Amino acid sequence: MKPPIICFSFLLLAHPASPLVDGSWHSKKHLRSVTGKRNVLLIIVDDLRTSLGCYGDDIIKSPNIDQLASHSILFTNAYAQQAVCAPSRVSFLTGRRPETTRLFDFNSYWRKHAGNYSTLPQYFKEHGYVTMSVGKIFHPGISSNHSDDYPYSWSVKPYHPSSEKYENTKTCKGKDGELHANLVCPVDLSEVPEGTLPDIQSTEEAIRLLNLVKQQNSSFFLAVGYHKPHIPFRFPKEFLKLYPIENISLAPDPAIPRNLPSVAYNPWADIRNREDVQALNISFPYGPIPEHFQRLMRQSYFASVSYLDSLVGQLLTAVEILGFSKDTIIAFAADHGWSLGEHGEWAKYSNFDVVTRVPLMFYVPGVTSRSHPQQNIFTYIDPLNADPKRNIPGNVKDDPVELVSLFSTIADLAQLPPLPECPFPSFHIETCTEGQSLSPYLTTSKGRRGNDESIAYSSYPRPSDTPQWNSDLPHLRDITIMGYSMRTTGFRYTAWVAYNPITFEANFTNIHAQELYFVKTDPNQDNNFFNTSIHSHLLIKLLGNLKI
Ligand SMILES: *[C@@H]1O[C@H](CO)[C@@H](O)[C@H](O)[C@H]1NC(C)=O
Ligand SMILES: *[C@@H]1O[C@H](CO)[C@@H](O)[C@H](O)[C@H]1NC(C)=O
Ligand SMILES: *[C@@H]1O[C@H](CO)[C@@H](O)[C@H](O)[C@H]1NC(C)=O
Ligand SMILES: *[C@@H]1O[C@H](CO)[C@@H](O)[C@H](O)[C@H]1NC(C)=O
Ligand SMILES: *[C@@H]1O[C@H](CO)[C@@H](O)[C@H](O)[C@H]1NC(C)=O
Ligand SMILES: *[C@@H]1O[C@H](CO)[C@@H](O)[C@H](O)[C@H]1NC(C)=O
Ligand SMILES: *[C@@H]1O[C@H](CO)[C@@H](O)[C@H](O)[C@H]1NC(C)=O
Repeated sequence: MKPPIICFSFLLLAHPASPLVDGSWHSKKHLRSVTGKRNVLLIIVDDLRTSLGCYGDDIIKSPNIDQLASHSILFTNAYAQQAVCAPSRVSFLTGRRPETTRLFDFNSYWRKHAGNYSTLPQYFKEHGYVTMSVGKIFHPGISSNHSDDYPYSWSVKPYHPSSEKYENTKTCKGKDGELHANLVCPVDLSEVPEGTLPDIQSTEEAIRLLNLVKQQNSSFFLAVGYHKPHIPFRFPKEFLKLYPIENISLAPDPAIPRNLPSVAYNPWADIRNREDVQALNISFPYGPIPEHFQRLMRQSYFASVSYLDSLVGQLLTAVEILGFSKDTIIAFAADHGWSLGEHGEWAKYSNFDVVTRVPLMFYVPGVTSRSHPQQNIFTYIDPLNADPKRNIPGNVKDDPVELVSLFSTIADLAQLPPLPECPFPSFHIETCTEGQSLSPYLTTSKGRRGNDESIAYSSYPRPSDTPQWNSDLPHLRDITIMGYSMRTTGFRYTAWVAYNPITFEANFTNIHAQELYFVKTDPNQDNNFFNTSIHSHLLIKLLGNLKI
């Protein structure tokens, strides 16, 4: 079967002229020291909530990711530590919480601003792996020193697709036939600049690198960062046919709950900036967005996910053809989720499950897969023509777990020396982790040490109690309130408390709002059940467990 987008001549094709790697790549010592180790393919998706077939979503067509899930251990309750790109990525790539990276916005580099923490790829590089970054792994810009933390984290200069520069330009054909910088942007590939899209280029580059490491016969850590379904929804328009607009429903709870504390609400400022949304003249901060446009956004998000799925399928097919499914760990995660109209909200920027919850799965050769070792594990499934019969995930874990555990988990699965647990505080320590390896879940039903309850923590900053233009993403200096949140099996509790961005201190006697949602009776979190006279112990529980 021929995948529609990528030309497979890339497979098994050498690029001899490419000045690909720095000196450490060629070091014999490095290559020899890692003989027989498992490689790592880390796939990070931008803004992907758990809208996937393998997470029980029966609208989304994601057959390739579902296939990966069927051979993986899958966590249904994995949560990001902050629901926005740079803080979340710096957190899971360093294995430290935002409280320790001190990155709550996009405007500092942890090595300078907090501590000289090692990173997940750096740890593999130091253990003799060739480490490579394709697309968006670190958030670009100040938060990774404009270099994706190269050379500390990577053996090779990180790759960014050339067509990325058109993402926010006028490339979306409007009803008037003119080009616009729209939010909803299905495109004809033959008409876009360079005739391609960033994630297609990243997939091609990742496949090229896999071919190269195959020839070099060296252990690798390859991180591939996909941009979609991040806005703008710029994707090949053929994926729309999977989601006829008349079949698209609104969120199950599209109204803003009456007892939602205003500090908890994010006004989705980034969505409002696009030309097609501006034309709707939506009132700030609460909207609403016209229903037909809500449906368009949901449709485009879903289509972007199927487009992503097609690319992941092509990447995994290359993994299979090159023989890497036998010795390569595949970790799949997103930086955080996304609201699609749930409780009247859009985008990320809050503490609700819908934006903190992420897909998280690990494929470990010979361990997680149910397939016979001689069988092919990954074959391309065209999402545009997929059999509606679903791949059921193999091994599902429901405990709340945290993205900050990604570092120690992958290190553990690759049998690198275990990372020491960070003392508190740990600003002066380069290599330690605040996460907890999830690898015990592979062998036991419960992965936690002893009888500890599983809790996932997240936090989100705000400049004020009521929504302002900068409420989604305040600069550090403008933060006055921090929302500390904990998700257990049974509930999510959040305390919004006064915060000093100069001393980085929270004042837990100055409480602005508290929220409590019960998972069983209110899974969408529309009914804040917090009552001071009954639930005051929750703050004590939060403080007792969270080191801040
Ligand atoms: C920070 O860590 C990097 C990588 O381990 C190291 O090369 C560098 O010397 C360290 N910088 C400082 C100031 O300690
Ligand atoms: C950040 O990048 C600048 C410019 O390339 C460089 O001079 C500086 O050393 C880098 N910072 C760290 C901590 O490596
Ligand atoms: C790859 O390296 C390993 C370990 O050095 C060696 O046993 C194997 O034969 C090599 N394979 C190829 C194709 O060179
Ligand atoms: C759209 O809805 C109709 C009516 O429920 C159904 O028959 C059809 O299969 C749906 N199409 C898709 C692509 O889901
Ligand atoms: C936009 O909406 C405001 C009220 O929400 C109204 O006063 C204004 O006239 C509207 N502008 C346009 C161009 O429709
Ligand atoms: C914390 O907040 C309380 C209540 O508003 C206030 O009395 C106290 O001074 C604050 N503490 C600090 C260190 O700001
Ligand atoms: C909070 O709980 C107390 C004690 O059960 C009850 O009397 C009170 O009505 C509750 N308050 C609200 C707002 O539900």
